[in-house]
Amino acid sequence: MRTKVAIIGGGPSGLLLGQLLLKRGIDNVILERRSREYVLGRIRAGVLEAGFVELMRTAGTGRRMEEEGFIHDGIEIAHGARMFRIDFRKLVQRSVVVYGQTEVTRDLYAARDAAGGEILHEARATSIGGAEGDTPFITFRQGGEQRRLTCEFIVGCDGFHGISRQAIPGKLRKSYEKSYPFGWMGVLSETPPVNRELIYSCSERGFALCSMRNENLSRYYVQCPLSDTPDDWPDDRFWEELKSRLPEPVAARLVTGPSIEKSIAPLRSFVSEPMRHGRLFLCGDAAHIVPPTGAKGLNTAASDVHYLYHALLAWYDRGDARTLEGYSARALARIWKAERFSWWMTNLLHRFPGQSGFDLRIQSTDLDYLAASEAAQTALAENYVGLPY
Ligand code: APR
Ligand code: PHB
Repeated sequence: MRTKVAIIGGGPSGLLLGQLLLKRGIDNVILERRSREYVLGRIRAGVLEAGFVELMRTAGTGRRMEEEGFIHDGIEIAHGARMFRIDFRKLVQRSVVVYGQTEVTRDLYAARDAAGGEILHEARATSIGGAEGDTPFITFRQGGEQRRLTCEFIVGCDGFHGISRQAIPGKLRKSYEKSYPFGWMGVLSETPPVNRELIYSCSERGFALCSMRNENLSRYYVQCPLSDTPDDWPDDRFWEELKSRLPEPVAARLVTGPSIEKSIAPLRSFVSEPMRHGRLFLCGDAAHIVPPTGAKGLNTAASDVHYLYHALLAWYDRGDARTLEGYSARALARIWKAERFSWWMTNLLHRFPGQSGFDLRIQSTDLDYLAASEAAQTALAENYVGLPY
């Protein structure tokens, strides 16, 4: 098999890059180790920055997002009994769109099918070769057969557990990691959201988040010990704990119901540098992970795709290699700002084991300052809606 751009991974990164390239006539093939049903079965956040929304429009996949997505002009921060709003529209004149990642992925799959784009499912990439030269290749297994895909560029969109990051020689690679001493217990329920906008809550009992997918599909999280499993959280316990972490008026109007999905996610900050090695490029979770507190996972994948898409256009349209050579530094500059924001939001809103009296006072004062300072709220707002590409 042969193509111009070989993409490993049929998640949001791979699908979005593949669709953008197809729209510009740049042939590409996506190798996805799982079935389409499996990929579409993943429950993931969908708070889209303006840059992501624009990329979906450029890819020709923005229609359903615009029809069914919810424009959010702000978020609420709850601190004990108090709750205050961060008004994105007033502070930075921008907003975010809430539209589930599953729907983004569904739209991208549909567009690829309509464009006749090739995606091989249950095709697991097993090795990457020739990245240092100009005829790189991927070997992959599909249907019990070992096959080879030769190409001009390889893009690793294969997530944290993929193979592409390790294809960069260890002596050339440096990673940075921070693990957090707690997880998020998440519940999806067919109930109306408790609030029109998201509520991020810091309570004495720990963090909680009230989010949504649509008018009758809500997504809630409570911070929990890493040793917990979903079995430790029967629905009744989850709802009672969530209510105990919300201001009374919010808890009083919470509509509970049976969970239709329940899972615990650990929180981690991770960056692997560089994001390029010869003709191999990394995008999205293959190169970096953020704690979900800042809703940056999908959006950091999008900015990588934006930079790499324009770099590949410069090469194929004008033979200009400079943007490709500058991809890693440019992508990382924005990634680290998203890492910082996600780390900051996580420290602001969670209770950490072993926090001293001083730590708790500083955290409380941080929230007091945020509640009262337009400058502090503007800083949060410009990061949450997305820094410029
Ligand atoms: N061969 C082929 N496909 C692979 C391989 C492999 N060896 N390893 C992993 N994959 C596939 C996975 O099955 C997955 O579908 O790569 C895809 C990676 O997708 P994601 O993990 O979703 O990563 P990405 O596309 O970068 O999207 C990042 O999705 O996971 C969320 O929180 C994350 O919101 C962020 C966004
Ligand atoms: C979600 O809706 O799942 C969600 C929203 C915002 C976050 C994290 C998760 O910061």
